[in-house]
Amino acid sequence: MIDEPRLTMTAEQFRLLSDLVHGASGLAMREDFKFVAERRLLPRVEALGLSDFGAYQRYLRFDARGREELELACELLLPHETYFFREPNQLECFVNEIVPRLVEQHRGRRRLRLWSAGCSTGEEPYTLAMLLEETGRFEGWDVQVHGTDLSRRVLSTARKAEYAPSALRSTSPERKLRHFEVVPGGKVRVKAPLRAQVSFSHLNLIVPEAADLLPFMDVVFCRNVLIYFDLEARRRVISSLYRRMQPGAWLLLGHSESLLTVTTDFEIVQLDGDLVYRVGQS
Ligand SMILES: C[S@@+](CC[C@H](N)C(=O)[O-])C[C@H]1O[C@@H](n2cnc3c(N)ncnc32)[C@H](O)[C@@H]1O
Repeated sequence: MIDEPRLTMTAEQFRLLSDLVHGASGLAMREDFKFVAERRLLPRVEALGLSDFGAYQRYLRFDARGREELELACELLLPHETYFFREPNQLECFVNEIVPRLVEQHRGRRRLRLWSAGCSTGEEPYTLAMLLEETGRFEGWDVQVHGTDLSRRVLSTARKAEYAPSALRSTSPERKLRHFEVVPGGKVRVKAPLRAQVSFSHLNLIVPEAADLLPFMDVVFCRNVLIYFDLEARRRVISSLYRRMQPGAWLLLGHSESLLTVTTDFEIVQLDGDLVYRVGQS
């Protein structure tokens, strides 16, 4: 007779799983996350025909497909919450205080590279492309926004650029009309010219050299990613970002994130609307 899969993890199984997930993604799972982890991973235990979380643990560590499965487990455990025009005050500051400086900084080359690091399903990088378009100051410029994420599933949604109404909960009616077209199935799609400005790639931010294929960036948004990491993983992520940033490039974090105790590589710039970070010019 086949045993029913055990629904819970022992403390030891959770500790081993946490180590694996932390090593692969940077995510630091606290003990109170055990119940969520069980709920999200139990379907994988069942789909693989394993008897319990102990067997799943061994599969992750020793099976030839364990690495692939660990990527999937990280995908299921990481938060991917995002929406268009998130944190509007910060975006306003970006448009009013950083964009004019970017125009000045790059007027010679008329080229701009932005990176949404940990972009999830793409709302953030498309938002950035929309904001730049609305300023009307980059016509004839070579502007590219790169979105990267660890999860292949969210990236495939991002590339499709089709969204349910909830993703536009912070988007004004004017912006809906300007930047989106209606598609069958009650969804909307980002309009083609903006889609062409945004590209996506799979990238693990805790592997600093993984970012070396990206171009050097002028602006990096890395919002709502560091909060889930411990200090060591934060340092690795910031080192990934720093090595792809031009002198004078800007870094914007989420409103509850900071580089305090993480690094002294960046200058702190207090703008009227936000505190941001910048790579030195020398
Ligand atoms: C909460 S979402 C934030 C999305 C967007 N930046 C925003 O603020 O709306 C965090 C994203 O970071 C991604 N992420 C987490 N760890 C990562 C890593 N080590 N490398 C790359 N992306 C990672 C997750 O997959 C997730 O999609």
